[in-house]
Amino acid sequence: MWILAFIFLQSILNVFGEDLHSSLYFVNASLQEVVFASTTGTSVPCPAGGAPPASLRWYLATGEEIYDVPGIRHVHPNGTLQIFNFLPSSFSKLIHDNTYYCTAENPSGKIRSQDVHIKAVSREPYTVRVADQKAMRGSVAIFKCIIPASVEAYVSVVSWEKDTVSLNSGQRYLITSTGALYIVDVLPEDGLNNYRCTTRHRYTGETRQSNSARLIVSDPTNAEPAILDGFDHREVKINHRVELPCKASGFPTPKYRWLKDNSPLEPDSRFRQTISGLLIENAQPSDSGTYVCEVWNSYGNAEVMGHLYVKQPLKAVVSPRKVKGSVGSKVSLSCSMSGSDEYELSWYRNGEIIYPGNNVRFTGLNRENLIIEGMTKSDGGAYQCFARKGKMSAQDFVQVILEDGTPKILSSFSEKVMNPNEPLFLVCNVKGTPPPRCSWSLDDDPVIKDAHHHLGHFETHEGHVVSQLNVTHTQVQDGGLYRCTCSNSAGVVYHQARINVRGRASIRPMKNITAIAGRDAFVHCRVIGYPYYSIKWYKNSALLPFNHRQRAFENNGTLKLSNVQQVDAGEYNCKVMVQPNKMESQSVHVRVRVPPYIQPFEFQRFTIGQRVFIPCVVMSGDRPLDITWQKDGRPIPASLGVTVDNIDFTSSLRINNLTPDHNGNYTCIARNEAAVVEHQSQLIVRVPPQFVVQPEDQDGIYGKTVTLNCSAEGYPPPTIVWEHSKGSGRGGSSLSRETQTSLSPATWDSSSGGIPRRSQAS
Ligand SMILES: *[C@@H]1O[C@H](CO)[C@@H](O)[C@H](O)[C@H]1NC(C)=O
Ligand SMILES: *[C@@H]1O[C@H](CO)[C@@H](O)[C@H](O)[C@H]1NC(C)=O
Ligand SMILES: *[C@@H]1O[C@H](CO)[C@@H](O)[C@H](O)[C@H]1NC(C)=O
Ligand SMILES: *[C@@H]1O[C@H](CO)[C@@H](O)[C@H](O)[C@H]1NC(C)=O
Ligand SMILES: *[C@@H]1O[C@H](CO)[C@@H](O)[C@H](O)[C@H]1NC(C)=O
Ligand SMILES: *[C@@H]1O[C@H](CO)[C@@H](O)[C@H](O)[C@H]1NC(C)=O
Ligand SMILES: *[C@@H]1O[C@H](CO)[C@@H](O)[C@H](O)[C@H]1NC(C)=O
Repeated sequence: MWILAFIFLQSILNVFGEDLHSSLYFVNASLQEVVFASTTGTSVPCPAGGAPPASLRWYLATGEEIYDVPGIRHVHPNGTLQIFNFLPSSFSKLIHDNTYYCTAENPSGKIRSQDVHIKAVSREPYTVRVADQKAMRGSVAIFKCIIPASVEAYVSVVSWEKDTVSLNSGQRYLITSTGALYIVDVLPEDGLNNYRCTTRHRYTGETRQSNSARLIVSDPTNAEPAILDGFDHREVKINHRVELPCKASGFPTPKYRWLKDNSPLEPDSRFRQTISGLLIENAQPSDSGTYVCEVWNSYGNAEVMGHLYVKQPLKAVVSPRKVKGSVGSKVSLSCSMSGSDEYELSWYRNGEIIYPGNNVRFTGLNRENLIIEGMTKSDGGAYQCFARKGKMSAQDFVQVILEDGTPKILSSFSEKVMNPNEPLFLVCNVKGTPPPRCSWSLDDDPVIKDAHHHLGHFETHEGHVVSQLNVTHTQVQDGGLYRCTCSNSAGVVYHQARINVRGRASIRPMKNITAIAGRDAFVHCRVIGYPYYSIKWYKNSALLPFNHRQRAFENNGTLKLSNVQQVDAGEYNCKVMVQPNKMESQSVHVRVRVPPYIQPFEFQRFTIGQRVFIPCVVMSGDRPLDITWQKDGRPIPASLGVTVDNIDFTSSLRINNLTPDHNGNYTCIARNEAAVVEHQSQLIVRVPPQFVVQPEDQDGIYGKTVTLNCSAEGYPPPTIVWEHSKGSGRGGSSLSRETQTSLSPATWDSSSGGIPRRSQAS
């Protein structure tokens, strides 16, 4: 059967403009950690931006958008996140020691910044100490500034003093990169001085001075080596210098030898043995490993063993850089990583994590390839690849521009008259994404390549597709209606025109056609030869048109039936006057098929636990009918326990015990020979609100934060409102909503009285 109704899907696309003036970018990818003093507060600009200016928003790593907490946290309109200074007693881990990220959104899409760890440090009491040391005359003495582990990460040695005079690294004194003081060639008089260190806190700026320590100088006596300075773990950034300390006492003066991963250290111009140990310049990832420093003299030996790790910044690069797709096309992106072999990779589209699904696939060991088949309208925008390793993260993104890729004819051929044996050149020039494929037909029969018919196809450098049909030695039967049909995943387009080859006129036998009720149908009288005088259509011997829905074009033999109805079925006769008194005729049978029509249905309101019956009735349409159901675009999962009963022209759903899992959009799909139609309705299962966590009585401590938790579940999600039962309380400004589910006054003050009035509703 020959279906003559061409259906053209006109997709109205929400196309992301290929607007060169619209872009998104990262301002500062190296911003990964912000440590600040509670006494100063901090301002963190959003590390992402865009042109035209993007709207910038901050979130917690958990995905919650953050909100202003008066006097504590504020996001400025320019996207700068400000955390105000605070009293150590008001420390809130949620605000002052948490991972945040920022997003930038403009018409190009939405990107999300790297994670930024924001951490406040407060002044806390600590002391630094120096211990007395012993050394033999002529050997090395080492003083270390002992910093408590709790502040070690923030506190560093800024100077050493000898009897209140600051020491500089020089001939006999050396202050190492780790802050130790070395005194070389110890002299007896070195034992007469006091030594102390001064430290500074990197964030609070506080300085501390240690106690005074002394050096006890003895005469050299034979002794086996004893380690004075060593290490067990060192990290260094690639291309930086690092010192691995290894220094021992002993007499005679010990000798040193370095091993790396159990083999003697290969000589390298970047390695240098210094007074304090091994200095590595320009560290490389291959320098990572286990180092052993062997120390010996004639009385014994000792060793220092430690690990060095050379950190490389993680780097992610997404390719290809420029991606254009169209509705229905396939897009493949790949993310290549350097800097580490171990990382966790995730993909985001417009700031939302991408999960594998119907049309989304990941391939590669670490999901480094993203493949999206059949792009849809909402699939355009910014695609980001995120790699995370511990606290480090790296990301890159590309913009996927969704074009209206439906094929369009740029140039083509028009009707003409030719003499037999004249060559015929027909061309269709078409554009579209992905590049369309074209096929040719003559009077609806495909054109087959043979000795006289040549088909060609190529792409121009602009990406347009040119399809050619050449006919050498044209014959009368090469005349007729030529059509080139070009299609890709986004759509289809065609162009047609008559080519008349001179010769005796006649009509090719015609094929019966199926017309679809409610649509338009075209019936062509397949005339060949030229000239001919007129083409007329008859039905039951009556000349057409005999109603307003019929239109016959005498010049080219097309009969158009608008808004086809059952009565249009039957035999049609096409008569061509080939000579003033000679007629040719052919008949064609038109069958009318009626598409299904589903009686619209709407779900009423349902509550959890109820029984539900949903009928789908196909009121009209030819049989056989096939009726199926989908939930949220997929077959209904068996686990939902939904029974489907199909009886003749109806199909129904039965649900015995409604649960929240039944929430979703249900589609009834009816198909027959003519068409596929569907009807969708949303089922909402109401769940009455119920408390999950209820606030409990709590004692507040003056000046401290108190958190009252409350959470409830239900569907649609319930709104939580706080009320306060005693007194009128004072302004809500001292109240902050920590999460949707807890209430926490910023700080208690004596005037707060009881529980403050109320917080915002969620
Ligand atoms: C990027 O962030 C780093 C780390 O906070 C900072 O040192 C640097 O100044 C910033 N660069 C720019 C251009 O803002
Ligand atoms: C953003 O605005 C705040 C307050 O007006 C200002 O202090 C800050 O410097 C601005 N930051 C940038 C990056 O413009
Ligand atoms: C068709 O004819 C044109 C003009 O002679 C020629 O350029 C083209 O290569 C031909 N194509 C094929 C497929 O033969
Ligand atoms: C066209 O339909 C008629 C009536 O159903 C039938 O008799 C005839 O054989 C059909 N012709 C073709 C070519 O299918
Ligand atoms: C015949 O002409 C009418 C009106 O110009 C046009 O709509 C129709 O497509 C033509 N048919 C063919 C087969 O060219
Ligand atoms: C169901 O359809 C409604 C209205 O068309 C839409 O808002 C909702 O997001 C859909 N739900 C699902 C799960 O697709
Ligand atoms: C409130 O909830 C948080 C997070 O679940 C929990 O850490 C805290 O202990 C809870 N507080 C009270 C008073 O229940």
